[in-house]
Amino acid sequence: MKALVLSGGAGTRLRPITHTSAKQLVPVANKPVLFYGLEAIADAGITDVGIVVGDTAEEIREAVGDGSRFGVEVTYIPQEAPRGLAHAVLISRDFLGDEDFVMYLGDNFIVGGITGLVEGFRETRPDAQILLTKVPDPTAFGVAELDGEGRVVALEEKPEVPKSDLALVGVYLFTPAVHEAVRSIGPSRRGELEITHAIQWLIDQQRDVHSTTISGYWKDTGNVTDMLEVNRAVLETVEPCEDGTADEASEIIGRVRIEKGAQVTRSRIVGPAIIGAGTVIRDAYVGPYTSVSEGCRIEDSEIEYSIVLRDSSITGVRRIAASLIGRGVQVTPSPRSPAAHRLVLGDHSKVQISS
Ligand code: TTP
Repeated sequence: MKALVLSGGAGTRLRPITHTSAKQLVPVANKPVLFYGLEAIADAGITDVGIVVGDTAEEIREAVGDGSRFGVEVTYIPQEAPRGLAHAVLISRDFLGDEDFVMYLGDNFIVGGITGLVEGFRETRPDAQILLTKVPDPTAFGVAELDGEGRVVALEEKPEVPKSDLALVGVYLFTPAVHEAVRSIGPSRRGELEITHAIQWLIDQQRDVHSTTISGYWKDTGNVTDMLEVNRAVLETVEPCEDGTADEASEIIGRVRIEKGAQVTRSRIVGPAIIGAGTVIRDAYVGPYTSVSEGCRIEDSEIEYSIVLRDSSITGVRRIAASLIGRGVQVTPSPRSPAAHRLVLGDHSKVQISS
């Protein structure tokens, strides 16, 4: 069995932190989301991995290399433009050969990996297997309609009136039957070869399309609330370690990972939290569910339930919460302006002024 990981796309979408880089490299608990996918693939015993790359090919190659650090062998498959998920399958025909494969969207995160799913697929071998998850607003997703026995009867891309609340998750299992499907469909209204259409084609040909419903799924939507939530979920599982240094005057509580070369001085860190390599924390409080990337500086500040990307500094600010701070950012207090409160207060007033 092989794996096809989709990491193409333009990388130019304006979103909080990926306007200059590949969305598959957005860090979750200080590790690119793509790496979790590659690890899940390796854990499932798959070593032959094709990665479809687009405009951001260089960045992806630089981050992933030949795949040996994940225990897999990577073949890069250039896609000249993001012409759709089914197009990615189409251009990967030579790499895939006649083997079954798992298709994994590089910006998706599946809590708990895919080992069980891959094992189940190997045993039953339907023509295709899709993963579904319940979502509050299915109109933004591919949506599946199931019959009474859980078989997929129809798929719809971003329906205005969804027939269920089951959205397609970015992991698909295919036999070579999919190749005929992707060759048979035409472009959609948005000009892409849609994988939902290819799977619908299989259904229409009376082929066997199974579904599994999972929980614990996340997709990079550029949505800060979701990113903080997935960061929280992953930090819960992080192994504590102290490869960096914390001085005697610091207090490290709970599940905290202090990476190599990080220095914690006169500070309090309450886990789960990660302090990235070479980061300096001084006279500061870092609260639960915070990931601070490498090369940052947090001084005389308080931060919790937040993500700070590399080479940023926060100095003299209290208190930052539920925030996403990009790369090379500097956060400082605003200069004290000689503000005056001009008050006209009635008798016996009670006023609270924060100054
Ligand atoms: P998205 O662009 O998110 O594709 P989507 O159709 O799921 O999203 P939306 O409808 O919200 O725009 O891409 C999903 C992943 O697949 C992402 O890692 C980029 C990759 N991809 C390719 O590699 N090639 C392609 O042609 C497309 C469309 C996506």
